[in-house]
Amino acid sequence: MTAKVRKAVFPAAGLGTRFLPATKASPKEMLPIVDKPLIQYAAEEAVAAGVTDLIFIIGRTKRAIADHFDKAYELEVELEKYKKSRMLELVRNILPSNVSCIYIRQADPLGLGHAVLCARAAVGNEPFAVLLADDLIDGAGDGCLAQMVKVYEERQASVLAIETVPPEETQRYGIVETALVAPRLGRIKSIVEKPSPEKAPSNRAVVGRYILTPAIFDLLEHVGRGAGGEIQLTDGIARLLGREPVYAYEFEGRRYDCGSKIGYLQATVEYAMKHPELHKDFSAYLQQLKV
Ligand code: UTP
Repeated sequence: MTAKVRKAVFPAAGLGTRFLPATKASPKEMLPIVDKPLIQYAAEEAVAAGVTDLIFIIGRTKRAIADHFDKAYELEVELEKYKKSRMLELVRNILPSNVSCIYIRQADPLGLGHAVLCARAAVGNEPFAVLLADDLIDGAGDGCLAQMVKVYEERQASVLAIETVPPEETQRYGIVETALVAPRLGRIKSIVEKPSPEKAPSNRAVVGRYILTPAIFDLLEHVGRGAGGEIQLTDGIARLLGREPVYAYEFEGRRYDCGSKIGYLQATVEYAMKHPELHKDFSAYLQQLKV
């Protein structure tokens, strides 16, 4: 197996019901935080971690993401005509030139596990990352995935990003039980999808970043439908635990759950506060709101 994580899968074929009607004709991964869509933050995080092949799993609203990363001829001609060189640079350099993109259609939203399985042929027999763009992570250093790649390179095993959540929120997440092996790193003993607080083995929740070995694919083929009638990635990982070590890594940074309205708004406010062109005016505006 190669030691390098070169490929990343971006499942973006969910229905995004919590954001309807905004997600009627465009996926929630295209919602912007200030001036960039969520999917671009995730793609940039993957590139910063050394990934060169981006595999997008797209659904019903299939064109928006491909169009975003594709060349926009007409727009470039117009920007050139009006000498908007900074904007031209922005739209031309969405991704570095050594990065390539593949788009795979998930015809029915059968679940996250199924979305990952759709990437099987494109990933092949090598380790790969999965990034859920609606979990926006402002990570330390080169980002959350880069931190995880380091762990992968040391351990040569699957790694899931985790964080501690309030005990009453366990039913929104995959929850792990771990044995600590190093600072911030635990070996996963068990994992369960969306347990009620009474049944949860802990309040350590899996967030939307994974590095997985390709052994997951055979397991996902056979898991069948789990919680919510969906083919769950968590159920595939639960089976992987019986075959290989799988680690839970407490990443350094702050996660925003942009699949929920409140998380999305928090990210918007905090990213606007840090935005080089906006922070002054926006902070002044917030100050004045408080009065
Ligand atoms: P979510 O359950 O958060 O997304 O899936 P959702 O179903 O689109 O959102 P709501 O709950 O209806 O508002 C987690 C991630 O998995 C992707 C989603 O796009 C999201 O990034 N996903 C989910 C798929 O790609 N395919 C699926 O069948 C399900």
